[in-house]
Amino acid sequence: MSASYTRTAKSLHWVMALMFFGVIALGFYMTGLPFSPDKLKLYSWHKWAGVTIFLLALARIAWRVMHRPPALPASMPRLMQLAAHAGHHMLYLLMFAIPLSGWLMSSAKGFQTVWFGVLPIPDLISKDKATGDVLALVHESLNFLLIAVLAGHIGAALKHHFIDKDDVLTRMLPAGKDKS
Ligand code: HEM
Ligand code: HEM
Repeated sequence: MSASYTRTAKSLHWVMALMFFGVIALGFYMTGLPFSPDKLKLYSWHKWAGVTIFLLALARIAWRVMHRPPALPASMPRLMQLAAHAGHHMLYLLMFAIPLSGWLMSSAKGFQTVWFGVLPIPDLISKDKATGDVLALVHESLNFLLIAVLAGHIGAALKHHFIDKDDVLTRMLPAGKDKS
């Protein structure tokens, strides 16, 4: 049996996974609503949660740089190991690219983000409708890419557990043994 993930890595993984599912669902739900004060409130919550994910991603990458994850099972073919690493790199990249594109889009559309209504987040670019429309498309496309990568990620985790019957999934589960 190989080493497990640390308790911190597991906590960050699952808290962020739950937040991602919530923020993606909220994103698609809110954009389909007719204009109303409730819709604006949901947009604010989406932006606040998205900025929170960005901050958690910063903490997670710092932790990851200082802590090597457990090695993949030696029984895994080299190509599969490369695909797993490429998928993880892509997920880390999207953890930053998606909230950043949202932040830039809001700046370009002229709606500053005030985190939980308390902390104003500086606008990174000036107001420009055309740029805002492009960034909205970028934000949406990156989310579709994330959903595709996540389908592979979750599918791979289930294949490891139910077909290969190794410990790749259990060593990331909260109930699994922690590394320390
Ligand atoms: C990891 C974090 C985030 C995820 C997973 C996410 C996901 C999504 C999704 C799935 C949509 C619907 C896509 C569409 O149909 O247009 C959306 C829309 C939107 N997001 Fe995000 N988002 C995140 C962070 C942010 C942040 C940080 C901001 C701004 C500070 C933001 C601002 C917006 C806005 C304004 C829309 C509506 C765009 C429109 O009305 O066309 N998002 N987001
Ligand atoms: C039901 C949902 C999910 C399941 C079952 C799952 C499962 C797993 C498992 C089993 C691992 C460990 C892989 C290994 O040992 O090499 C892992 C790692 C990882 N997961 Fe997930 N995951 C889920 C959702 C997510 C989400 C939503 C994200 C981010 C958007 C994410 C990002 C990552 C990343 C970046 C790693 C690599 C950690 C590292 O080694 O540095 N996962 N996931």
